[in-house]
Amino acid sequence: MSNVGVHVFLGKGGVGKTTCSAATALYLAERGEPSLAISTDPTPSLSHIFEISGEHREREIRPGLFATEFGLADVRGMWDEQFGREVYAVFSTFVDIDYRTFVDYTTSVLPGLNEEFMVDYIRRLALEGRFRHVVWDTAPLGQTLALLGMPQLLAGHLRMAPRIYSKLRTTGEQRQSVMAVIEGWQRLAADCMDFLRERVRLSLVTIPEALSVLQVDGVMEELDRHGLAVGRLIVNNVVQVTDSPFLAEKAAGQQPHLARLRERYPAIPVVEIPLFPREVRGLDRLRAVGQRLVA
Ligand SMILES: Nc1ncnc2c1ncn2[C@@H]1O[C@H](COP(=O)(O)OP(=O)(O)OP(=O)(O)O)[C@@H](O)[C@H]1O
Ligand SMILES: [Mg+2]
Repeated sequence: MSNVGVHVFLGKGGVGKTTCSAATALYLAERGEPSLAISTDPTPSLSHIFEISGEHREREIRPGLFATEFGLADVRGMWDEQFGREVYAVFSTFVDIDYRTFVDYTTSVLPGLNEEFMVDYIRRLALEGRFRHVVWDTAPLGQTLALLGMPQLLAGHLRMAPRIYSKLRTTGEQRQSVMAVIEGWQRLAADCMDFLRERVRLSLVTIPEALSVLQVDGVMEELDRHGLAVGRLIVNNVVQVTDSPFLAEKAAGQQPHLARLRERYPAIPVVEIPLFPREVRGLDRLRAVGQRLVA
């Protein structure tokens, strides 16, 4: 596990998380280090960027470069597979509920179960060590931040659970197995949080615009509350010095935002990615981004 690099890209919608994730995985793979890019974004963005189609479960795109894309249904399915039956076996002893309804209910009512499952999935990938790097392209910020808080939030909800279950008419034995399941979940929540804190390299992606830069502060605070440190700030879409008056004005408008970030977060390395004239799709353009990210 100690050898596996786990890279997570966070940021608000459309700032370039998937671009950075794909570029990083490609760069590392081409350096000879097998890498898996994994996306939990509901839209299949990795395949769009890698210009592939079809099913993507650890699909090898080129030697050493793998991609996995999970939709919500996949994540639920995995939760179902790993925990569903065990938990249902306990609950169905005192609640009359069919299995499908039970799974829909638990995965939608217990906040963060899916997200937590995803963290656990990546944690297990790191433990297995089949890949030298796992690069996680997260969903846009709102969801991702919720995700980061989830292991703790879930643990909080679970602390309530024993009180609720003790009010149900259960036998001592049933109560014990409910408690065992709850304790298992609590352990999982703690393990996931430790994994995020200790094993993951967090990159926060932003763009040099007023609103995005302001949002960085909120995200930093939120991450800090969970004991998570950002390893670097990636500022994407930076306009290069140019003869075009239009672009020169745009570049000048970006500079104060860049300066503010550097001033406010002097201890965090800032990586600038230039704005390219075209969208970043296909391996050649991704390489140009990857060089800047890993250099
Ligand atoms: N430096 C850049 N220059 C030009 N285009 C870029 C650059 N970075 C990203 N893009 C383009 O911007 C669009 C959004 O990028 P991307 O999909 O990586 O963002 P995202 O943060 O993953 O978005 P979402 O939050 O929707 O998942 C894409 O079309 C991508 O090709
Ligand atoms: Mg994306």
